[in-house]
Amino acid sequence: MTQALDELKIGGLGASRKRVEDNRFIRGKGTYIDDIVLPGMLHMEILRSPVAHARIRSIDTSKAWEIPGVRLVLTGEMLASRNLAWMPTLSYDTQAVLATDKVRFQGQEVAAVIADDPYIAKDACEAIVVDYEPLPVIVNPTQALAEDAPVIRDDKENQHDNVVFEWQVGDKEATDRAFEQADVISTLDLHYPRSHPSPIECCGSIADFNRATQKLTVYLTTQAPHIIRAAVALVAELPEHMIRIIAPDIGGGFGNKVPVYPGYVVSILASILLERPVKWIEDKTGNLISTGFGRDIYLHGEMALRKDGKILAVRMHTTSDHGAFYSDAQPSKFRIGLLHSAFSCYDIPVAYLHNRGVYTNKAPGGVAYRCSFRVTEAMYFQERMMHAAANDLGMDQAEFRRINLVRDDDFPHRTAFGFLTDSGQYVKCLDKALEAIGYEDFLKQKEEAKKQGRLLGIGISTMTEPLGAGNSREFDILGIKMFDSAELRVHITGRALLRTGAKTQGQGHETTWAQIVAHELGIPAEDVVVEEGDTDTAPFGMGTYASRSTPVAGAAVAMAARKVRAKARKLAAHLLEVSEEDLEWELGRFYVRSAPERGVSIQEAAAAAYSNMPDGLEPGLEAVAYYDPPNMTWPFAAYVVTVEVDPKTGVWDVLRVVAVDDCGVRINPMIVEGQIMGGLTEAFAKASMQYITFDAEGNCIGSNYMDYLLPTAWETPGFELHEVVTPSPHHPFGAKGVGECATVGGPAAFVNAVLDAIKDTGVRNIDMPLLPHRVYEALTERHDVSGAPPVRMD
Ligand code: CDP
Repeated sequence: MTQALDELKIGGLGASRKRVEDNRFIRGKGTYIDDIVLPGMLHMEILRSPVAHARIRSIDTSKAWEIPGVRLVLTGEMLASRNLAWMPTLSYDTQAVLATDKVRFQGQEVAAVIADDPYIAKDACEAIVVDYEPLPVIVNPTQALAEDAPVIRDDKENQHDNVVFEWQVGDKEATDRAFEQADVISTLDLHYPRSHPSPIECCGSIADFNRATQKLTVYLTTQAPHIIRAAVALVAELPEHMIRIIAPDIGGGFGNKVPVYPGYVVSILASILLERPVKWIEDKTGNLISTGFGRDIYLHGEMALRKDGKILAVRMHTTSDHGAFYSDAQPSKFRIGLLHSAFSCYDIPVAYLHNRGVYTNKAPGGVAYRCSFRVTEAMYFQERMMHAAANDLGMDQAEFRRINLVRDDDFPHRTAFGFLTDSGQYVKCLDKALEAIGYEDFLKQKEEAKKQGRLLGIGISTMTEPLGAGNSREFDILGIKMFDSAELRVHITGRALLRTGAKTQGQGHETTWAQIVAHELGIPAEDVVVEEGDTDTAPFGMGTYASRSTPVAGAAVAMAARKVRAKARKLAAHLLEVSEEDLEWELGRFYVRSAPERGVSIQEAAAAAYSNMPDGLEPGLEAVAYYDPPNMTWPFAAYVVTVEVDPKTGVWDVLRVVAVDDCGVRINPMIVEGQIMGGLTEAFAKASMQYITFDAEGNCIGSNYMDYLLPTAWETPGFELHEVVTPSPHHPFGAKGVGECATVGGPAAFVNAVLDAIKDTGVRNIDMPLLPHRVYEALTERHDVSGAPPVRMD
């Protein structure tokens, strides 16, 4: 019998294979949207509103038309004549493509110029004269819900206030009853501030309509090419098979590249009108000011507690600020996404969540910024409430969590809000993190340091989150059910081409998907090429966001490979002249059970598929699989952070960060660690320095990287990573998603650590970012510091 293949050597599951895509990226050979130049291509620039709320009295484009090289100037009025001034959003609202009646946020798209080069287009935009009549501006929910607030969405019939929706989930009566039994009720008010995903590459499109073939090709910075094709078919009223969306290399998405943006739509319309390719590349300020925000939710949270630390019930009232249009890019049937995944890792009998969404004069928000649809806010609220509750009970932070975490033998676990979590070893993860940080020793050090006037603190955040939307029962986008797909084609030499409906934006799918094929078939990973992002070639899929690729597309890859293996078995039986039932499988090879030395490799079976197939068997060796997950996967993480706060300045330094992640079976441990480090970096940024907000006139503060800070390697602390592996019971090879866990669970660990350091002040909360002057204010004034600076709720 031949030696079974060594899975790690062929780059299968568990191999820390170097990322194959980096060969082109580090050589500057990636093809991003702005690298693409088509013959006869024109350039588009968008004129944006300088004010946050105003009636448009008039738009004079005459001077722009006079500039040589200008081919087209588009306004909302012109779009309205084609019924294209408004477009549907992914959340069943409408959004202005180019403003007609009013502008409703600073940076809103007002007009577009298409010209021979981008500089002419920019100059022509400046030559457009818009007469704005200013209107009162609303920048926070308190203003939006005031009796006399102007109605921002007066374009909508029957909209008489600024409420987008009201939504509730959980058992209100049972929760109220549980609160009556409580020994202690802990309350907390928080704001999760607006955040911008800020990918390195901005959004952009090149639309190329060919009148002769009637085919529209759109190169697009999109995380979900097939969904965009469906949306373009609806908006442009073109037949779907005549639309080809190509997502080339993407310089980071983080949720920013899921929605349909006005720039995409206008470039398509311009190409159809001019019959020339039209390129639109957003600039940094355009990206920061107008596209795809996340978060911006206020919480009033209450926890009913028994003296011994048992949580009896949780009540959450949240208000979400959606900006001027409700364009949340989320596919669940729940109005505020998966906010009610909060507290899923704790065994809590009952809970109730009430949420109200409001319109304000801000750019539309609600993208799942490295997050499964409001899960980041959910976990932040959860872990901040846990911290406050432990303090209110006078209990140790770790012990309070340990008492309430779901036990290993309690899976699948039904959460208080009705989710079913799949598997986990929560207490083990927490204990591993505490051991790694030296919890007991640190508590002693902290007491010693206090005697010398030094403020040390420790923060814990434990969480599970749902990753991998669908299932199709509960998730759809515009009615299209959530699933994903893979197509595997094995060539005559045993090399393979794999295409999926996902779309990598830096996560390394070209590397890891090949590893799944290696695991399932024994074809070395280097013999598998992975392609994504072209709707003419890839099978229909729902794209990549919310860490859904591994749970759904990755599962589809395994299922397609298994179909290939089933056919290869028939070919092997034919070659070995035995029946299929007499064959055994080991990695990369079928062999005869009674004579193990007689075998056929997967490569030999592939060759037979094209050259020596049995009678009645179709030639070829390929398969397509569509995978509708039975449930989401529920990874778990425990993050522990230690800090020192300088009492004289409020500056805080991170001492250590320990992360224990359980994302089930790891395909590529090195890539997983990269994902966790990236997520922790974003968590640190959010907690310490990053905010994008609005002044009272609705001017966006933070629309450049001097104000909106991205941490560099200089500021970013080191991270100590550990793992626990609990396979998902329903995923084909036990993997769970991981890409966003640290962004979701990380921020609370940093904030809890700072609040722990200043616990003696009695301060319960400082809203993010914990800038030194805000920490200093809390320390010296001994009060909570709430709201996103500089605009506060009051
Ligand atoms: O959907 P997205 O690709 O953003 O997130 P993900 O499914 O969590 O995967 C992020 C990267 O980590 C991909 O390259 C995955 O293949 C890899 N990964 C892994 O190697 N093992 C896991 N258990 C989960 C993800």
